[in-house]
Amino acid sequence: MKEMKDDLLKVLLSEEEIKERVAQLGARISADYAGRELLMISVLKGSVAFMADLMRAITIPVSIDFMAVSSYGKGVKTSGVVKIIKDLDQPLEGKDLLIVEDILDSGKTLGYLIDTLGQRGPSSVRIATLLDKPDRREVNIRPDYSGFVVPDEFVVGYGLDYAEKYRNLPFVGVLKPEIYTVAE
Ligand code: IMP
Ligand code: MG
Repeated sequence: MKEMKDDLLKVLLSEEEIKERVAQLGARISADYAGRELLMISVLKGSVAFMADLMRAITIPVSIDFMAVSSYGKGVKTSGVVKIIKDLDQPLEGKDLLIVEDILDSGKTLGYLIDTLGQRGPSSVRIATLLDKPDRREVNIRPDYSGFVVPDEFVVGYGLDYAEKYRNLPFVGVLKPEIYTVAE
């Protein structure tokens, strides 16, 4: 039987490490936003696992919403073109937004989201990302809350995919390069 872990070079972040870090971020966010109207915006689909765990690590009341933007498709490199596929269900005036992402890579996706959502009159816009790959940055963005800095390797699991697979791994691993070089 073929298992997902057979396609991995190694485990980069274990379930335990992720859990501990998410708890720390949740505590910080709870303190930073005390008394404010926090709206957590999950960028589908990569951030679902992080969103689900992070929101439960936050102890103040929050609202949540979901947004989908175009991504890499099947490949591993960004096209740089970002398109809204599913928009938010509510107005943003006066709200404190926390955009929740799986990984900050070139920064194009988050750069676009900050601009677009910023034009809708929120009180503030911040970013929480599980992973940060600073080596690959093309747009000058720094996350306000970051789980882990990762090297320039293609990673999957805990929401992150390659060709829509591996999202259900409970940890983050490095994909064997032959998996995506053969396919492309
Ligand atoms: P950016 O616009 O280049 O910052 O791309 C961000 C998006 O690309 C993320 O939300 C991911 O969906 C995807 N991405 C970037 N690097 C990886 C990776 O190593 N594994 C899986 N997805 C990735
Ligand atoms: Mg994503």
